[in-house]
Amino acid sequence: MTQTDDDRTMTVPELLAMAKEIVDADGELHEAEEDRLATLEEEYSEDAVVSFAEARSILRRVAGVDGEDDAHEHMLIKELLDAHAGTAKESVSEDEAEQVDDAHSAASSEPPSAEEPFDPTANLPDSTRDLEIDGEAHMWIRDLDLRYGNAQAIYNVSIPIERNAVTALIGPSGCGKSTLLRCLNRMNDLIPICKVEGDIDLEDTRISGSSADLVSIRRRVGMVFQKPNPFPKSIYDNVAYGVRLHYNPSRRELDRIVEAALRRAAIWDEVSDRLHEMGTSLSGGQQQRLCIARTIAVEPEVILMDEPCSALDPIATAKIEELILELKEHFTVVIVTHSMSQAQRVSDYTGFMYLGRMVEFGKTKQIFSDPREELTGRYISGRFG
Ligand SMILES: Nc1ncnc2c1ncn2[C@@H]1O[C@H](COP(=O)(O)OP(=O)(O)OP(=O)(O)O)[C@@H](O)[C@H]1O
Ligand SMILES: [Mg+2]
Repeated sequence: MTQTDDDRTMTVPELLAMAKEIVDADGELHEAEEDRLATLEEEYSEDAVVSFAEARSILRRVAGVDGEDDAHEHMLIKELLDAHAGTAKESVSEDEAEQVDDAHSAASSEPPSAEEPFDPTANLPDSTRDLEIDGEAHMWIRDLDLRYGNAQAIYNVSIPIERNAVTALIGPSGCGKSTLLRCLNRMNDLIPICKVEGDIDLEDTRISGSSADLVSIRRRVGMVFQKPNPFPKSIYDNVAYGVRLHYNPSRRELDRIVEAALRRAAIWDEVSDRLHEMGTSLSGGQQQRLCIARTIAVEPEVILMDEPCSALDPIATAKIEELILELKEHFTVVIVTHSMSQAQRVSDYTGFMYLGRMVEFGKTKQIFSDPREELTGRYISGRFG
């Protein structure tokens, strides 16, 4: 039988060793890499086991690579995984494997003992049962299925997104958080093999389906990415760019919009006297706030944030978190985060995803203090994933 990346596994210490090897590959440990390693150590308990598919995705994140441009890192990750698959194969001879199989089939006919290991893939809920929110729903995702080619990445997900609230999506690497987030402003349309079924509504507008107006959706639903990505333009033009694209403001109006956006993104005081310097000359945390200013300048209704702090130090992270809490006064925010403490600090609602399913959705307080699903409890307490 051929093994796929989903049934090959490794332990967390093995994964950590690979992650260290990758970040050490260029001979120096950068601060961001160090943070990502520390987060990884924090989030995964030592006795957890991850699939190769998850490991690949985690290693890419630790190495800070997500595009095809980072061919060297992709190759290194592939080599490490191939080498590990080799050792895993060698360590179990065919005879031993048969014995293990026999032991399994013998065990399966016996009643489960109290110490039976927890199987996170057993009885995954098909959809979320309790979808109540306090306020009005700004967006609705209903019965969403998504495939990349033949591989299904989202299974039957339904959740409301409350207006002027922060909704966090959490779950282990590869569970589909970014994929789900990208559905909310149709960014997945840029991936040709991606096929989506189900409905997504933004107020009264159905934004899923072929007749939706993508330009209007992307203006109404803005996005902030994991790595700050200012355009190679001045600070002023970074913010003015989208405004000029959608409207035709006078110079005075544009000045006013740029200043208001920079103020709302809590960066005006740091850049007001250097608006014509390059956006890329700012620090990482300032660049991320500039990208938030760029997003809010076109007055979206919803802001999507995919791990917006993962490349930032704790002080810059605290500023962005504070900003998120202010932003929800005017906007609806959906954030993907790997940090349980961040989800608790900034969000009103949390959706816990696992293997493409929305295992549990509810008020953040309830999810973290009294989760209904055993799987959620195990994940938030770091006992798997
Ligand atoms: N462009 C793509 N083409 C094919 N498969 C993809 C693509 N993007 C994501 N996938 C797959 O879809 C699944 C979900 O990936 P996704 O990036 O949404 O996970 P995630 O929860 O955001 O993970 P992470 O925490 O590592 O960012 C994974 O199995 C991934 O390999
Ligand atoms: Mg992601």
